[in-house]
Amino acid sequence: MTAVPPREVTRITCIGAGVIGGGWVAHFLARGYDVTAWDPAPQAPEKLRRLVDAAWPALTQLGLAEGAAKDRLTVAATLEEACAEAQFVQESAPEKLELKQQLLAQLDAATPRDVVIASSTSGYPMTDMQTQAAGPDRLLVGHPFNPPYLIPLVEVAGGDLTSERAVAWASEFYEVAGKSVITMNRELPGFIANRLQEALWREALHMVANGEATVKEIDDSITEGPGLRWAFMGPCLTFALAGGEGGMGHMLDHFGPSLKSPWTRLEAPELDSALRDAMVAGCEEAAAGRTIADLVAERDQGVIDVLRATGRLPGAKAERKAGS
Ligand SMILES: NC(=O)c1ccc[n+]([C@@H]2O[C@H](COP(=O)([O-])OP(=O)(O)OC[C@H]3O[C@@H](n4cnc5c(N)ncnc54)[C@H](O)[C@@H]3O)[C@@H](O)[C@H]2O)c1
Repeated sequence: MTAVPPREVTRITCIGAGVIGGGWVAHFLARGYDVTAWDPAPQAPEKLRRLVDAAWPALTQLGLAEGAAKDRLTVAATLEEACAEAQFVQESAPEKLELKQQLLAQLDAATPRDVVIASSTSGYPMTDMQTQAAGPDRLLVGHPFNPPYLIPLVEVAGGDLTSERAVAWASEFYEVAGKSVITMNRELPGFIANRLQEALWREALHMVANGEATVKEIDDSITEGPGLRWAFMGPCLTFALAGGEGGMGHMLDHFGPSLKSPWTRLEAPELDSALRDAMVAGCEEAAAGRTIADLVAERDQGVIDVLRATGRLPGAKAERKAGS
């Protein structure tokens, strides 16, 4: 594969311009790329421009790349025209397997041979989507989060027929384009983040279905609770701090047995020594030399910063009331 090096990409094509495709367009424009979009819906061009206009103030606040401009967007009349000069293609069409299979084959036929084509799919493995393409080696998943112009994460995963070079190219390109990348070496259903979100979501639905909690209670339990920590420290390291100075080891020894109690409708994993050791080692690695005390200080400062940023510091509330 002789694709343009990731740092030299200037022209990006976005196929499908709904919530996610339009969000990608806004992101790439803000990072200073020329963007060509195509969407078969007749009203798509106006909708896309409205979406970019709505996103632009936030993007301006975050800081636009040099030369970034909304008028560097071109809406193509056909898929072929959109792909003819692409240096990277991001597909964000509806989540239907047959549609994705056919569309990816069409994109493969219309795009210069060496160019990587990524799908925004929320859950289909690329192995299932690349079945009809003549050049499946450059097709991969680049799974974003809504809105792609604000949420940094992209999960990158190839299918059985995707080349390692294409996966490496895409991961480097997304980083250069301002995203946070997790490159997966296997096709996990739902990737990582959606798998975690799904577990939480399943529990929320069980509680609502059984009349155990209201939607508001469920949402408040996250935004007023663990959600404040998760914005800057993931669930594993925050649980390591629940073990006090003993860290993850003490946390598992202390609370491990409660995994078997009927808190959850999901089946609990067997907490054997291999899982315990993997969790302890994973937390040590994630801490990267930070002590428990360091992590506590970081967590506390993070919560304060998030509370301040969302106007929820007690002082800020009082000021708002006084001013209203
Ligand atoms: N919405 C989310 O939160 C989210 C998050 C991550 C990933 N995704 C994924 O992104 C993709 C797009 O989802 P969305 O939420 O933007 O949907 P959407 O319905 O908002 O947009 C889909 C767009 O695709 C267009 N379209 C229809 N047929 C097409 C075709 N044959 N070729 C190209 N475009 C076509 C539609 O006109 C529409 O504008 C899906 O694969 C979805 O799973 C969505």
